[in-house]
Amino acid sequence: MQPSPYTPGEVARAVPGRAIQLAEIDERLSVLADLGRLVGRIRVDHAPRGFGKTSLLREYQRRAEARGLLSVWVTAGEEAGLVAQICTALASATETSGDRARASVGRLESVELTLGVPGLAQVSGTRSVGPRVEPRGARAFEAAIRDKTDGVGGVVVLIDEIQAADEVGLRTLVYAWQHLQAEGADVPAAVFAAGLPSAPERIAAVVTFSERIAYRPLGTLGREAEEIAVVGPARALGVRWTEEAVELALSIAQGYPYAVQLIADAAWTAAGRPDPGHVVDVRAVERGRSVMQADLEALFRARWAGCTAFERRLLGAMADLGAGPVARATLAQAMHATPNSLSAPRARLIDKGLIQPADRGLLQFTMPGFAEFVRGNGGE
Ligand SMILES: Nc1ncnc2c1ncn2[C@@H]1O[C@H](COP(=O)(O)OP(=O)(O)OP(=O)(O)O)[C@@H](O)[C@H]1O
Ligand SMILES: [Mg+2]
Repeated sequence: MQPSPYTPGEVARAVPGRAIQLAEIDERLSVLADLGRLVGRIRVDHAPRGFGKTSLLREYQRRAEARGLLSVWVTAGEEAGLVAQICTALASATETSGDRARASVGRLESVELTLGVPGLAQVSGTRSVGPRVEPRGARAFEAAIRDKTDGVGGVVVLIDEIQAADEVGLRTLVYAWQHLQAEGADVPAAVFAAGLPSAPERIAAVVTFSERIAYRPLGTLGREAEEIAVVGPARALGVRWTEEAVELALSIAQGYPYAVQLIADAAWTAAGRPDPGHVVDVRAVERGRSVMQADLEALFRARWAGCTAFERRLLGAMADLGAGPVARATLAQAMHATPNSLSAPRARLIDKGLIQPADRGLLQFTMPGFAEFVRGNGGE
């Protein structure tokens, strides 16, 4: 018996299918580590829930650290505000990163006196101003970043759930980066972020120069990547999946990373947590599917319970139109509504990760099986 190597609901140990993203990050990290330059654009990878954003960001972090860069991780949305979170993380990273950074501690402390928690509380408390107005803390934050890069090879700031960041924090970050782009090309620092599909809109609402931000939608997994995600971890434990079993698992998961992990994990358990030399066959996947279905249904029910009556109507109308992508106009027609009146609930449902924009302005369900769930139980 060997424990499952799959990671449903946990950060993935490897991120197959993300070669393009990783190549771009490697190139950016070279700019930083080899040339000692600023990565001028803030990068934001965005996708609905369960697409692998956190896992990807963790992989960026591993790569940054492998190059000897100082990295800090924050999950936006805490009370303290984004900038305070970043500064706190930077301060504790310096404390733990040993001698090479010790030289900069003194300077950091002086920055923290002006910018530290009391100062930041003040910045965060600033009442909302128009997007064209620079927050008072932007220069101080810029100075803090400059300071932190002194004596280390470079600093990488990773921000997860960026759509949840406070308005002043976002604006402070973007303004500080704007200054660095203009005057600090030799500051080796980078910001890589991840968030829901609403992140670009949310950021655009609080800063005017969002063209300085590189938005990258993160898609479903391609066939080969999915296959690697299923077969690879088993192979490392000396276990083989039959071709038929892989086929069935892929048809169930449909490229949705969370579902890939769920079905592979359920099949592993159904196969009796195989020892080296054993196989996962199609019967194990079939048995696993019913177990996984229960997990998925629980997730669907929870998401459904979190929807308003109107959102449910919208989901119902979409499900009635089939599991594939639907045009907004078709949807509006089916609901006897105007496309405009649907835009707010549509945005909320995208944020909840239930639906997502597809090519050419179409809308589609995010999770495989959700359309069937809505058709089957949704009306109840
Ligand atoms: N490239 C990948 N291949 C296979 N599985 C993956 C991949 N990336 C992530 N996963 C798996 O998908 C699931 C979701 O991953 P993760 O938590 O990183 O997504 P997320 O987009 O951050 O989700 P959320 O929006 O809920 O925070 C996890 O079970 C993880 O192990
Ligand atoms: Mg996440």
